[in-house]
Amino acid sequence: MFANHTLSGSKPEQYEQLIAQARGLLHGERDRIANAANLSALVFHALPDLNWVGFYFFDGRELVVGPFQGLPACVRIALDRGVCGAAASTRRTQRVADVDAFPGHIPCDSASRSELVVPLYRGDALVGVFDLDSPRLDRFDAEDQRGIESLAALFLEASD
Ligand code: SME
Repeated sequence: MFANHTLSGSKPEQYEQLIAQARGLLHGERDRIANAANLSALVFHALPDLNWVGFYFFDGRELVVGPFQGLPACVRIALDRGVCGAAASTRRTQRVADVDAFPGHIPCDSASRSELVVPLYRGDALVGVFDLDSPRLDRFDAEDQRGIESLAALFLEASD
C-alpha cells in the first residue's frame, strides 16, 4: 500500500521529497501508462491547489489525452493549439500565470486559472507533455517549474 507522506520544509525540499516518492513509486516498472497514471495521482494528491494533473501523448500527428487526475478533458490537441501544443512544438516548458491571457488556451475545466506544461522529448522525438492546471491565478513559480521538470525527466528515464 502506498503511504502518502505529507511534504514539509521549503518548496525545493518538498520537491526533493516528492521526487524521492516518485522514484520509489516508479521503481521496477517501465510501462508508460502505468507510470503516467501513478505519477499523476501522486502529484495531484501531494501538491495544493491543483484541479488537473496528467499526460498527453503524441500519436505521430497530435497530442492524445493519457492518464490523468481531474475532470474529463479534451481528447486531442493539435501541435499548433493551446498551452500543450505550444510546449510540444517549442520544446519549452510553458508556465502560464493567467490562462485567459494566453492566446489559444484550450479550456477543459472552467475552474483552471493558471497552467504549467512540460514537454516530454527523447532526443528529438516528441513523447508528449505533462500538464498541471490550477484554479489559482499564478499558482506556479520557477521552483514549481524546476520540480515538475525533474519529475518529467524521472518519468522519461523510468518508462519505455
Ligand atoms: N489547457 C490545455 C488543454 C489541456 S487541459 O488543461 C487538461 C491547453 O490549452 O493546451
